[in-house]
Amino acid sequence: MRVLGIESSCDETALAIVSYENGKSCIERNDIYSQIKEHEHFGGVVPEIAARAHIDRLPFMVKDLPLDTLDAIAATTGPGLIGGLHIGYGFGRALALSLNKPFYPIHHLEAHALTVRLSNQIDFPYLLLLISGGHTQIIAVQGFRQYKLLGETRDDSCGEVFDKTAKLLGLGFPGGPAIEKAALNGDPLRYPLPCPFYKQPHCDFSFSGLKTAIRECIRSFSPGVTASKHYAQESVTSGMTTSEISDLCASIQHTVSKILIDRLSQAFKVTPHKQIVIAGGVAANQYIRTQLTTFCETQKRTLIVPPVKLCTDNAAMVAWTGIEMMQHNITPDIVVPTPRWNLMELARA
Ligand code: KG4
Ligand code: ZN
Repeated sequence: MRVLGIESSCDETALAIVSYENGKSCIERNDIYSQIKEHEHFGGVVPEIAARAHIDRLPFMVKDLPLDTLDAIAATTGPGLIGGLHIGYGFGRALALSLNKPFYPIHHLEAHALTVRLSNQIDFPYLLLLISGGHTQIIAVQGFRQYKLLGETRDDSCGEVFDKTAKLLGLGFPGGPAIEKAALNGDPLRYPLPCPFYKQPHCDFSFSGLKTAIRECIRSFSPGVTASKHYAQESVTSGMTTSEISDLCASIQHTVSKILIDRLSQAFKVTPHKQIVIAGGVAANQYIRTQLTTFCETQKRTLIVPPVKLCTDNAAMVAWTGIEMMQHNITPDIVVPTPRWNLMELARA
């Protein structure tokens, strides 16, 4: 079977074709148009601009794809920015209608959760650490649509720590890669930052206190800057040298890794899984990947990490989830684009 995936839930316009024959999957196309240029001036994603960019790009991107060879179309239907979801969903449904093929509405987090089965061909079960721009969760993935939420963030997501502090540091957009670049050669122990819930016996996260601590740290270098300017999240780095910024970014990566390891170690107390998987945009971070790999080794578990290109938003994961749905005989429901959609609603009893 060969499925076209469409991803438009945030600021990546992506189309991919994934095939699956005789137990072997193949990513035949994986095209991404990143809207960084459209949004960087504003320091973050502007939903209206994102939706317009999706509608501008999709017709060009689909033009040279071998549509007549497809068995189905799959498009991200939630959660995400509603304008972009409507564009991808409407585009996908119309295409499916015109080709007389089934349309599969895809849950963005389910796509992140299952990507590793496409890239690394692993079997269920596994323990998933999902760290993206909008979500931070630990989920026991027992099988397809057999998901058990063990913990999640009570406030901000892990990705927000990178995005908001990069903005404050004037490092540009998107935040994660900018912080990773600035952190190269930085001292990860220079700035001690808080680890919320450290050693507490549950699997939930909290990142708002860490964000505040980072903001206060930056502010201490520029005492003349008012708190209101800080809270408006304008760049206020004039008081910091390049090497101090580098050390702070390295310290942020170090602290986020420490928090993730601490929360995973709580999950390990209640789950026997040997396969540990990380997914979502923050899983693209090399420092975090290395730290988590080493930790899992000490715990006699194996960390399985999808390639960087499949950690951040892409359409191959959407096409693959369509294939998983087809394989599990899921009849595609009419699900309308849904900005907030809890993955656990998909879990089968
Ligand atoms: O999964 P994703 O592409 O989109 C969502 O579903 O949210 O994740 C985006 C998040 C952003 O917060 C971005 O800053 C972060 O992933 N990110 C990174 C890196 N690349 C992307 N964070 C840390 N290091 C990176 N290299
Ligand atoms: Zn995502």
